[in-house]
Amino acid sequence: MSRFITWNMSFKVGQTLTIVGVPKPDATNFAVNVGPSEQEITMHINPRFNAHGDENTVVCNSYQGGNWCQEQREASFPFRQGQEFKIIIEFTPAEFVVSLQDGSKIHFPNRMGAEKYSVISFDGEVRITSLEIK
Ligand code: GAL
Repeated sequence: MSRFITWNMSFKVGQTLTIVGVPKPDATNFAVNVGPSEQEITMHINPRFNAHGDENTVVCNSYQGGNWCQEQREASFPFRQGQEFKIIIEFTPAEFVVSLQDGSKIHFPNRMGAEKYSVISFDGEVRITSLEIK
C-alpha cells in the first residue's frame, strides 16, 4: 500500500472536488479520504476490487477517535483495474454527494460536521492524475 497526502487544501461547503485517477492493473483496492487531519477521516471512499472479503464493492466510512465507524456499502461499482475513473464530490451543507462515472451517486453524511476540510489523501494501488477543487 502507498499513501499520498495533501495538506493545506481547502475543501469547503459549496465546493466540488474532482479526482481523476487510474487503479493499477493488479489493484486490490484503493481509497480516497477527506478529513480535518492526518489522523481523522470524515469520508473514506474505498473501491474494493478484491479486498477485505469484498469483490467489486465500494465501501464508505469515517475514521474517528482511532476507530472505523459505521460502514456504508454501495450498489454500483463502475471501476475497472487499469482504467481511468473520475469521482466528483460535492460538499453540500448536509452531506457529500459523490458522482461516479456511470451516473450513480453516493450520499454520505458529513459526520464530523465541519464546514471545511484540509487533508485529502489516497491509499492503495492507484495513480492520481488530477485533483481539482472548484
Ligand atoms: C477496514 C479496512 C480499512 C477501511 C475500513 C472501512 O476493514 O482495513 O482500510 O477500508 O475497513 O470501514
